[in-house]
Amino acid sequence: SWTTGNVIEEQVAAIREQVGDKRAICGLSGGVDSAVAAALVARAIGDQLTCVYVDHGLMRKGETEQVEKDFVAATGVKLVVVDAEERFLTALKGVSEPEEKRKIIGREFIRVFEQAQAEIIADAGPAVEFLVQGTLYPDVVESGGGTGTANIKSHHNVGGLPEDLEFQLIEPLRKLFKDEVRMVGQELGLPEEIVQRQPFPGPGLGIRIVGEVTKERLDLLREADAIAREELTAAGLDRDIWQCPVVLLADVRSVGVQGDGRTYGHPIVLRPVSSEDAMTADWSRLPYDVLARISTRITNEVRDVNRVVLDVTSKPPGTIEWE
Ligand code: XMP
Repeated sequence: SWTTGNVIEEQVAAIREQVGDKRAICGLSGGVDSAVAAALVARAIGDQLTCVYVDHGLMRKGETEQVEKDFVAATGVKLVVVDAEERFLTALKGVSEPEEKRKIIGREFIRVFEQAQAEIIADAGPAVEFLVQGTLYPDVVESGGGTGTANIKSHHNVGGLPEDLEFQLIEPLRKLFKDEVRMVGQELGLPEEIVQRQPFPGPGLGIRIVGEVTKERLDLLREADAIAREELTAAGLDRDIWQCPVVLLADVRSVGVQGDGRTYGHPIVLRPVSSEDAMTADWSRLPYDVLARISTRITNEVRDVNRVVLDVTSKPPGTIEWE
């Protein structure tokens, strides 16, 4: 029967067998999935695993620091942090089409890993032959890899991999749903802040800017997102919602009146949803006073934003993310 203990035991044995005396690297995204995958592989092969955190400049406020601090403290894994912001922003320059963004981000990720690998093997230890991915069952299905369903989005940890990939994949969470992953993480001794973290997509804020991704727009969205998260946490709503994407409509402008006069700024979309597994979702009925606080603060504190709108669409027909 299914228990977290069985899953861990089974996976640990399978990973040991697969990896042998070689080494593996694992990309950490700051999310639950990659953290649990990494902790599981670390349990199996210890310091034959090196984790790589690619700071692609598409992270939310404070996220990089959280990975560097919390995760390392909890697991003691070897962590290499690569600052790749410029590389990603250059690759994304001029690109607005969602699938194109996803493919670029997925591709650059792998390239950065491959470079990191070169640095990791510089110590003449055993070869790094494996790449750990926190792919979940819904990712497999939605990327068309599972049961032949139509491809909805290229999740960057599945569909975006280049064909000339140099690594063999280890995907220990491939058969699990999110709630099961959380249980496994808990059993592995990961702290609450990591295990209960809400989902955040691998391509990060890159797919939450409708339009071209620029440093300026990212900074603006980071501010708005931080405000929304702060207020949701303060209102004690983190456990009630599945996640709340905050989206910048960079290609849309509307007229507002702020301070001394007319503004012509961008809307921010709040997309709070409740869900069991992200395959389907309903929009969260957040208290009006919480929405009001978020709206007031974002329009007051974030430059170039003069409107906050609420997404009241379920999935289906809308997906959770806007891109
Ligand atoms: P959608 O937008 O397809 O999202 O309804 C379903 C869930 O998946 C997350 N998501 C991603 N996670 N890589 C990830 O690791 C991705 O490329 C990706 N795209 C979407 C999304 O946040 C939601 O939880």
